[in-house]
Order: sequence, then structure tokens, then C-alpha cells
Amino acid sequence: MRTLITNGTVVNADGSTQADVLVEDETIAAVGAGLAADADRTIDASGKYVIPGAIDVHTHMELPFGGTFAKDTFETGTRAAAFGGTTTIIDFAVQSRGKSLREGLDAWHAKAEGNATVDYGFHMIMSDVNDGTLAEMDQLVGEGVTDFKLFTAYPGVFYSDDGAIFRAMQQTARNGGLIMMHAENGLAIDVVAEQAVAAGNTDPYYHGVVRYPIFEGEATNRVIRLAEAAGVPVYIVHLSARDALAEVQAARRRGAMAFAETCPQYLFLSLDDMGNGFEGAKYVCSPPLRPADHQEDLWRGLAGNDLQVVSTDHCPFDFHDQKQLGQGDFRKVPNGLPGVEDRVDLMHDGGVVGGRLSKERWVEIISAAPARMFGLAGRKGVVAAGADADLVVYDPNRRRTISADSHHMDVDYSCYEGRQVQGASDVVLSRGRVIVENGEWKGEKGWGRFLRRSTAREHLA
Ligand code: URP
Ligand code: ZN
Ligand code: ZN
Repeated sequence: MRTLITNGTVVNADGSTQADVLVEDETIAAVGAGLAADADRTIDASGKYVIPGAIDVHTHMELPFGGTFAKDTFETGTRAAAFGGTTTIIDFAVQSRGKSLREGLDAWHAKAEGNATVDYGFHMIMSDVNDGTLAEMDQLVGEGVTDFKLFTAYPGVFYSDDGAIFRAMQQTARNGGLIMMHAENGLAIDVVAEQAVAAGNTDPYYHGVVRYPIFEGEATNRVIRLAEAAGVPVYIVHLSARDALAEVQAARRRGAMAFAETCPQYLFLSLDDMGNGFEGAKYVCSPPLRPADHQEDLWRGLAGNDLQVVSTDHCPFDFHDQKQLGQGDFRKVPNGLPGVEDRVDLMHDGGVVGGRLSKERWVEIISAAPARMFGLAGRKGVVAAGADADLVVYDPNRRRTISADSHHMDVDYSCYEGRQVQGASDVVLSRGRVIVENGEWKGEKGWGRFLRRSTAREHLA
């Protein structure tokens, strides 16, 4: 099967060019001007960009959390991702306390296999660090699960103390993997949260108040310092506050292997969104939304490469059922927001249209850097001969209004309800197959394959 995409502007992270793209079966066969090919199908991309399929390295399909489960399955979540131009996700498999990493990973394979509609990989969330799980880390790296997330937040759930984190870091320094850190001081947060509830401040808004930015800054500095001591690269997930960004910047200036992502919710939403009584529960996530004046610092961090990636931390809970678990006590609202469908367009609108990012930097942040940093270089994140034909014909001028009435995520609200964005995916290909075309679903449950990823140290030094 040969597909020719003609007359588009191919946008890669390192430059843009007017070129045709020839796809043969699952792979890009050629990129060049005036390709004449005997194709089975031609897609006219005049006036459009042709970009590498976007990669979301932080999703939580079916995550058990806060007494319930994140609502999107691998089928519904990857389908929604594809509508939004994302053709690869890396989800977090979870080691439950007292169980092995293997059991957690097997459970995630069972959820995804035969269900995912686009390619997927896994990171591993570590809940217990002991001799057994440390040895398992090396096995997982060999199986293409090359990153490990640990938490200084959520005491009693995912929290690890500094000794456990340091041991996992030492192991990862040896096995070539990457440590991902949720960096907030969870013990200090719990003190302030308890005081807030005791004072009668139980609305979701107080979730945003008690998780001080300085608690994120402190934990970010601490885990980067531990990583420097262990000699391992560290990637701060869902960075939300300028206090944390300052720590990443300072670490990078002194040559530390410190990297970080932020998420659209921290660039487009703020603490103000949490203020409308229990409606604020729609925006409860951790770290929380920050006062709006943090946003421009994050945008500058993205433009200047102190932040390398934008992921979504997609973790959707219905408002009318699941978020209600926190009525009367913000500590019981399940933490997480939907977003896997909207990242590419939000970042195009706020970044490229908003004049903060070039279109090449946009591709870098949503696709090329995630591929490089997470062991997919050459296969994903680039429009080039030999790469997987994960491609998006992207209309940079089409406007659409984000709404729960039209989104494909299996969740009953949108954090961006009514927001108009400029830029939208017209045609989406996953390994050469058209899976979305002008708003119509053409994909297939089970089409997505597990991605055995390599370690990415050479891209992180
Ligand atoms: O609120 C969030 N972020 N929920 C998902 C779990 C996590 O910490 O990433
Ligand atoms: Zn987290
Ligand atoms: Zn997360």
C-alpha cells in the first residue's frame, strides 16, 4: 500500500520544507519535492502542515486512584488521542504496594493489548523499593520499559522517602534508564491540608491553596540533588510552579542532567478556575493549578529549553460521579484532569499562534523531544525516510471550539469548555494507516502495538 501526501509543508523540529511524503505500508519511504509515485492513495495537503504524529509521554488510562479508576480505557483514550493528532502514548504501569513490578507491568499489558488504537509504551510507577524490585528494574529496562516514576507526594499511597528514591536512582544510574519524579513535599502538604479542613476550608479551591509552590520547589531541588549524587538523569513530571522551574534552571546551568515537562493545564488554566464552589473539583490535580502569573514563566521555560516537553498527565474522572467523592473534603476529590485530545491544538494556538513558539519548536515539544528522550529516536517524532509513518496533516488555520459535547474522551466535562483554538488535525495516520479523516474515525481497536523502547542516555547527557 502506497500513500502519497502532496503539496504540504513538512514541519520537523529542525526545519520546515515544502515537500511530498511517500508512505509504503507502515513506513515513510521518501520525503522530497515533486515525488512522482504510483500511489494507491493521494492526500492533498496544500496549505497544511505535515507533522510527525504527536507523542504524549504522560497518560493514566484506567489508573486506580482516589477510590476509583481514571475513566478512559486504552481504547477510548487512544482514540481520543488520535483525534487530537497524538499517535503514541506512554502510560504509567503501576506497582501496587506489596506486589512485584512484573505483576504491575503484566496488568498494564493486559489492559492495553488488543485495545489500544495507536502505539503505546509504558513507564513504571514504583511503590516499594527493595532488593527484589531493584533487581526487577534492570529486567524491565531490557524489556523496553526504561523509566521509573517515584513520588515525594501522596503519603500512604505512592510516596517514597529519600532513601528509597536514592536507591532507585543508583540502580537506574547503572541500568541506563531514566528517573521520573513527582516532586511536591507531600508530608508538608498534608499538614497544611489538615489545618485547612480543621478551619472549615473544605472546598476544592483549598486543594490549590494548600499545595504551596514552595513545596514543589523544595522537592524539585531535593530530587535533583539526589539524582546528581547518584549520577542519574532525572525528569521532573508535570512541573507547574515557577519555584520548581527555577530549580530546574539552576540545575541545568550547573550541568546537572535535569529535565522537565509541563502540561497544558499549567499554561492555560489557573487557581481562579478552582474557585466556583464544588465546580472547582473539575480542576483538582496535583500539582495544582497555580496563580495565573506562573504561566508566562512556564512559556519562557519552554521557549528557552529549560522545559523540554509538554505532556498531558491525562487522568480523567467524571464530574457527576467520580469527582463527587470529594464533596465536603477536597482531600477526597480524585486527582487528575482529562486532556489527551487537546494538547496539540492548545499548544499550537497558545504557542505558535500566540507568538511564543515557532512551529518547529511546537513540533519539538509535542513530538520530537518526547521521541528522543524516551527511546524512540528514528522511529517516531520525525518526518523522514525510514521512520514509522505516524503523520498528521494539520490545518494551522482551522478554528474549533473545545467542548465535552464534541470531544472523544470518555469523560463528562472539559477543562477548556468553550475555548476557541486555531489549528486542528485533518488527517491522522498511524503506521501508514489513516485512522482519522476530517473528523471521522477510521481506526481500529487493537491496531496499536507495544513499543519496546531503548534507553536514551545519549540524548540526555
Ligand atoms: O493529579 C494527578 N496528576 N493525577 C495523576 C497522578 C499523578 O500524580 O500523575
Ligand atoms: Zn504525578
Ligand atoms: Zn500523572
